[in-house]
Amino acid sequence: MKHSYTHRIYIGVLSVIVVITTFYLGYLGYSYYSLGIEDRFFHPDNQSLKSSGLLGHGFGIVGSILIVLGVAMYMFRKRIRKFSRFGLLSHWLEFHIFLCILGPVLVLYHTAFIFGGLVAVSFWSMVAVVLSGVIGRYIYLQIPRTIEGGEMNLNEINHMKDELNLQLSKGYNLDEIVLEVVLQAVKQRPDRLGGNMLQRSIAKYKFERKTIKDVKEILIDSGISGNNFKQVIRLIKNEINLNRKIDRLLTMQNLFKYWHVAHLPFAILMLIIMIIHVIVTVTFGARWIF
Ligand code: HEM
Ligand code: HEM
Repeated sequence: MKHSYTHRIYIGVLSVIVVITTFYLGYLGYSYYSLGIEDRFFHPDNQSLKSSGLLGHGFGIVGSILIVLGVAMYMFRKRIRKFSRFGLLSHWLEFHIFLCILGPVLVLYHTAFIFGGLVAVSFWSMVAVVLSGVIGRYIYLQIPRTIEGGEMNLNEINHMKDELNLQLSKGYNLDEIVLEVVLQAVKQRPDRLGGNMLQRSIAKYKFERKTIKDVKEILIDSGISGNNFKQVIRLIKNEINLNRKIDRLLTMQNLFKYWHVAHLPFAILMLIIMIIHVIVTVTFGARWIF
């Protein structure tokens, strides 16, 4: 989907906020974070940058709030029908990604790069969720989208194909029989595509070449030439493109099902241990500005 100019500015601003925060906090604490644990105690910023310090603790609290917000707003928008009127789902997803990257960055500085105890499990789950998020985002973008940001489903694509077939039969006065032969040639799929992904794509490519060649022969045999010939071939190529889209959509939908198995459970694990971590630290007397 092509984004509007203002939308690109919006994404740009969000990205710049993440990048600047990451580098600024790294720069601010570099001399502290690069020390070994024993030496940190004597560093002038220890009181503020340690996990329970004014800044360090603050990073943990603000970061966690951003993550919880980022998850909650996206889940509400996606799952509660009442909210479906507010904005495009894809824009909410972008905001989910923004909050759920900025939050983990703050939490990273909160740990002060010491990953001990039970919370370490929470931390590494967070890393797993963020990484799976990046991968999921990639898959998500591969699923063709309609303008509403909803998934363009197979029905819609098949509908587009039907229109194409109609155009073929109505527009070019193709003989019934010729049309039937052409449509059959296009409809065929390379059966039992074995091998790995590369071998499959090569086989598919060869098959498509052959289809076009076959169709050309049929058209020439039935005396169709000139402009009509070109137009029909163009439509056939469109049809092949749509077939490709359907294949890709099916693969991506399958991958995405598996992807949820990585993203969601790690998110839950992270949140549960985070809650335990907060209860433990507060019980042991940790206080921030309140
Ligand atoms: C996903 C969220 C969080 C993660 C992954 C996380 C992780 C950590 C880690 C790795 C440490 C260092 C443990 C060590 O020194 O061995 C730590 C310390 C600490 N965290 Fe968090 N934290 C999170 C959220 C929070 C929140 C929301 C609070 C505030 C209530 C908090 C309060 C503290 C405190 C007070 C310490 C210092 C404990 C001490 O020095 O004994 N953390 N956290
Ligand atoms: C600590 C960080 C994160 C947490 C806790 C988190 C959590 C979640 C949760 C709970 C969902 C809803 C799953 C569902 O509806 O079944 C979700 C969806 C999603 N998140 Fe994250 N996420 C995080 C970071 C990220 C990042 C960094 C990205 C991308 C770069 C990302 C991309 C996505 C995508 C693509 C979806 C799926 C959208 C959909 O199926 O509608 N997430 N996330």
